[in-house]
Formats: sequence, structure tokens, C-alpha cells
Amino acid sequence: MKLLGIETSCDETGIAVIENGRQIHSNLVASQIDIHAEYGGVVPEIAARQHLLTFNAVVKQALKDAELELHHLDGIAVTHGPGLAGPLLVGVNAAKGLALAENLPLVGINHLEGHIYAAWLEDIPDPEVNPGFPLLCLIASGGHTDLILMEDHGRYQLLAETRDDAAGETFDKAARILGLGFPGGPAIQKMAEHPHSPEAKLPRPRVKGSNDFSFSGLKTAVLHRAQEKGWYPPTDCDIDQNELAGVAAELQEAIVDSIISRVVTASKQHHVKGVVLGGGVAANSLLRSETTKHSPVEVIMPRPVLCTDNGAMIGAAGWFHLRNSAKHQWDMDVVPGLRLA
Ligand code: KG4
Ligand code: ZN
Repeated sequence: MKLLGIETSCDETGIAVIENGRQIHSNLVASQIDIHAEYGGVVPEIAARQHLLTFNAVVKQALKDAELELHHLDGIAVTHGPGLAGPLLVGVNAAKGLALAENLPLVGINHLEGHIYAAWLEDIPDPEVNPGFPLLCLIASGGHTDLILMEDHGRYQLLAETRDDAAGETFDKAARILGLGFPGGPAIQKMAEHPHSPEAKLPRPRVKGSNDFSFSGLKTAVLHRAQEKGWYPPTDCDIDQNELAGVAAELQEAIVDSIISRVVTASKQHHVKGVVLGGGVAANSLLRSETTKHSPVEVIMPRPVLCTDNGAMIGAAGWFHLRNSAKHQWDMDVVPGLRLA
């Protein structure tokens, strides 16, 4: 079964052709990062308009790369939440038009479920058996830091979430304070790889009596550190790059430590058979290596390009929804606050 996967929940127009939830025939992402970088974050209306401008060209190219035409497909899967309302509306309406043109089954996918199913695209040898359920899924992105217990296909329980900022949001906001640009995650990771002297510790906030995340205290601590060093508000003075790399490395370590301690606690508590990493922050090399080092069970992590938003993950999740029944969700609406569990 070949599906078109469509992702437009934020600032990436992601379109892919996926077979049987696993095999990638094409996977294109038209990124708007350069447009939004000027504003230091994603501007929803600009994002929606940009999806409108690029959508058809990306679909055409994705079909061409897969050497297929629309009528060869068996269905369409599209993100219908959570995300930004305007960008979601563009993707869902376009998906309805394509499905109507060829009378194809159409299914709405939760963006977070897409991040989970990115793991099935290539890393799980037998989609029915390996590594077995329950799985602990960490979704760390610009809007979410969730620990989800996946009991079976389509059965989820939310174990922990962030009480304030998400992990990706913390990278992005801290990078802005430190003058490192947008998106912050890759910029902080790159800066942290520069030679640096050790930096005084930043806090690893905990929520009393809970495995929930909290990152806003860490963000404030970075702001205070930057103010103490005279880096913020931004000045024309040269910033010592060794010292800046030290703060970036310490911030990255604080975020990774906070995530890993909770992943380890939850995986032991729920006797999971494996840990799945997903979402843009799961592209972080320190998070990937440290999770592998500390997890008591196998860790499944998609390649970094499949961790950040893309259409392939939506096509993968779509197959698990459509394989048993052909759905036509003509009345599908977008749900910006859609929850998974
Ligand atoms: O999943 P995603 O592409 O979009 C959302 O659903 O939000 O995640 C985007 C987030 C951004 O906050 C970005 O800074 C972060 O993922 N990110 C990273 C890395 N690559 C992207 N964070 C840390 N290290 C990275 N290498
Ligand atoms: Zn995402």
C-alpha cells in the first residue's frame, strides 16, 4: 500500500511517498527556516502562506522522485494537529483536494504519532514484532516534551510532559539570548562542539513528586548568565568564543541530563521493551549517544532527518491507520491542540 504523507503543521512543507509504513520512495522537505530566522521564530501567517506557495511543486516532485502518478497511490495521510492552525489548514485542504480528485482514502494523523512512527520507517526490522510492546516514546520538539507509553499500535498513555517550555523551545530561546540564531538546537549543538573551558553548572529543574519536565528555570538561568557576562542585552563588544561554547555545552548537557534521568526512571518503572526517540530534539547527537549509554533497554532512533518534521513519518503512521480499513475523512478538521493520549 503506497501512501502520500503530508506534513504542514509548522514551517516545513513535508511530502513523502511511503510503502507499507516502512519503505521510503521519496521524502521531500521544503524548509522555511531562512524566512523565519529573520524574526527569531516561526510567524504563523507567513508559514501558512509559504505552504500555499510551495505545496503543489513539492507534491509533484515527490511523485516524480517516486516514479509514480497520483492515481497509483492507495491513500493520503495528512497531519491535522497539533500545530499552527493556518499551516494545518493549508495541508488538510490540499490533501482533501488530492484525495477527492482520485477518490483515495484520506486519514488525519496526529503529528506526535507521526514522530513515533518515524522509528518504523527503517529501524524496526519487523513492524509487527520488534522490539515488542510496551515501548517508551520520548517526543522532544519545539512544542512538546512528552514521555508516552505505547502499549500497542494506536494505544498510548501520557506519562509525563513539560510544565512550561518544551526542550526545543528552550534551545531556541537560549540561542536567541546567546545570539546564536534560529533554530537554536542545531546552533547550540554546533557551538558546543567548539573547544571550550568548563563552565559553572546550570540548573536541572525537577518537579517535586513527578516525572514531568520543567525548562523555564533553565532558560532564565541562561539569561542571568548572559547578563553577568555582559552578553545580554546584545552589544557590539566581541564575545569570547571559548566562553560562549562553554555556556552552549553546559546548556546542552543540562537539557540532555534532564531528559535522560526521566527516560531511565520511566523505562524501569513501566518495564518497557524499548525506548523510541522522536521529534527535532532527538536529532541532537549528545542526546542520542547519552540515551544509548544509559538506557536499560534497546533505543530506537530514526536518522536525524527523520526526527525533524517530515512527510515520511506521517505516511508511516497513516499506514497503521489505513491498513485494516479504507477511511474517507471528508469532514476532517484541524485541531491545533490535538492530544495523543
Ligand atoms: O519536531 P520539530 O522539527 O518541529 C516541531 O514539531 O516542533 O522540532 C523542532 C525543534 C526546534 O526547537 C529545534 O531547535 C530542535 O527541534 N532541534 C534540535 C536539533 N535539531 C532540531 N535540538 C537540539 N539539537 C538538534 N540537533
Ligand atoms: Zn514535530
